[in-house]
Amino acid sequence: VLEHGGRLRAAAQRYGIPLEDWLDLSTGIAPYGWDLPPVPAQAWARLPEVNDGLEAAARDYYGAASLLPVAGSQAAIQALPRLRTHSSVGILAPTYAEHAAAWRREGHRITKLSEGSVHRALPQLDVLLVVNPNNPTGRLIEPARLLDWHDELAERGGWLVVDEAFIDCTPQHSLAAYSDMPGLIVLRSFGKFFGLAGLRLGFVLAAQALLDELDALLGPWAVSGPARSIARHLLADSDGQRRQRERLLADGERLAALLRDCGLPPTGGSALFQFCCTRRAVPCMELLARRGILIRLFAELDSLRFGLPADEAGWLRLEQGLLDCAPILASLEETS
Ligand SMILES: Cc1ncc(COP(=O)(O)O)c(C=O)c1O
Repeated sequence: VLEHGGRLRAAAQRYGIPLEDWLDLSTGIAPYGWDLPPVPAQAWARLPEVNDGLEAAARDYYGAASLLPVAGSQAAIQALPRLRTHSSVGILAPTYAEHAAAWRREGHRITKLSEGSVHRALPQLDVLLVVNPNNPTGRLIEPARLLDWHDELAERGGWLVVDEAFIDCTPQHSLAAYSDMPGLIVLRSFGKFFGLAGLRLGFVLAAQALLDELDALLGPWAVSGPARSIARHLLADSDGQRRQRERLLADGERLAALLRDCGLPPTGGSALFQFCCTRRAVPCMELLARRGILIRLFAELDSLRFGLPADEAGWLRLEQGLLDCAPILASLEETS
């Protein structure tokens, strides 16, 4: 089982701080969103049906010709490796660890690549996997570059898989519009931008033939009726989406500025999180956790990921926590 952010219960136990007293910044999920529409009783009582308007609303929102709703993009991450026989898979690293784990689990050969080494590796690859923008580093690759890589792979039956879980605030970088080309698979997470990770919904954008194979593998009723009903409303609410995008973009900049002012300049990020490389990553995470502020540590990368506070009280608490920790971290620096 891989480590993830959002494990607040484990943190509460470890640091002896009650669950309700934490400021949880350990994920990249929007901490605010929509007043949810009421869920019709039928959505709970009946088996979900596909002709309820969800797919049409999603095609409009993503700008994709064909797509498949899944129970979180994680469900697709785990299923896609089962649609290929033994393949050579390049993964732009470091990144969300579930991709490598899923391909390895199905017996494929994994090579971790840097952006600069893709060009040389491509002739040997059957599949290239890119998280764009990347989690946790925030690195963003231009669509034209990704499409070049896709051309080369698709020519010989290969795949480019682009995980766009964090792209909703910068849709101009998305490959959604090209996703019906054979060999291009785009994954979208519903939970992050819409702030509804618990709904467990995501979409696979790809050519219909591949979606049919994936659909058959995942089986009927993969997405619950209540999830379909709520998502259909939110995907059609373009005013709400614009407000959410503007607020998240502004808060992303505010978070980057706060971290810079407190001596932790981000090395990358997206609207939903900021990524800081620092030799003081472990003590910084510990000091904040003792103050009930949970962030995500990537010990092997000497780095930290900060998500967004939900409200002014959260911003003040984060600022105070960072200011309290700064002199302790500086003294550690001097003695090391
Ligand atoms: C890059 C990336 N892709 C996919 C997922 C899976 O998200 P979900 O299954 O909620 O859509 C995550 C979750 O954190 C992620 O970080």
